[in-house]
Amino acid sequence: MKIYAVKIVDINEDKLLYLCSSIDLEKNKRIVKFIDKKDKIRTLIGDILVRIIIANELNINNECIIFDKNQYGKPYLKNYPKFHFNISHSGDFVVCAIDKNPIGIDIEKIKYIEYRDIAKRYFTMNESKYIIEKDLSAQLTRFYEIWTLKESYIKCIGQGLSIPLKSFSINMDKYKNIESIEDYENNRYFLKLLELDLNYKIAVCSLNKEILDNIDIIDQSDLINKYLKYNLD
Ligand code: COA
Ligand code: MG
Repeated sequence: MKIYAVKIVDINEDKLLYLCSSIDLEKNKRIVKFIDKKDKIRTLIGDILVRIIIANELNINNECIIFDKNQYGKPYLKNYPKFHFNISHSGDFVVCAIDKNPIGIDIEKIKYIEYRDIAKRYFTMNESKYIIEKDLSAQLTRFYEIWTLKESYIKCIGQGLSIPLKSFSINMDKYKNIESIEDYENNRYFLKLLELDLNYKIAVCSLNKEILDNIDIIDQSDLINKYLKYNLD
């Protein structure tokens, strides 16, 4: 398992267009439709990041990197069933986790929302208790811990929100150790919170018991330069 992060910075329009034209048409069309330039950059950088990781891991050309999606929209690499990845983006970061087994990652920028209403509606009693048992100043952070952990589990399984959010519960002790979750096929999923930036929460869900703490931070311009060179090879 490896986990990567890129802090996004602006890309000029010409370069953005050029880079978008080098990825697959479906994603290119999706990027064009975004109104917010940051959405465009996050999605593009996610795609380029995973392509460079694949190039390193599998030593294949960019044309051989063909993505497909399961019926719930989880992307996977066609023709390489033993390579699993998952991407998430929020605020100024794009993160990607890879593994030999299905994996899920979620990053969320911590911003104020009506977390009490959301927790009441979508979280289990235990999860809500975990959030409100702390003083007010810590509750929003705890809300985002539960949020990202739940989403990383859903993303690992790959069935999106067809999995009811109250059908499983995140149980954490005071050391932030998280109980593993067993699905209906008796697969056991392990979860962990990772540290990257104080204003963000990141959670990873994996079938591997050992989830690394370490995030490999990649500079965006280095990534783009590597990609441009790789794409010409
Ligand atoms: N399973 C796993 N990964 C998926 C996926 C699925 N079914 N569908 C898409 N993805 C991947 C894609 O690579 C996507 O990146 P891309 O659009 O650049 O290709 C990436 O996940 C997006 O993840 P993230 O940045 O975390 O997006 P999100 O938080 O907006 O949405 C979804 C994540 C699409 C997987 C889905 O769970 C969703 O719609 N969530 C809504 C948020 C929510 O209610 N969460 C509940 C948490 S308590
Ligand atoms: Mg998310």
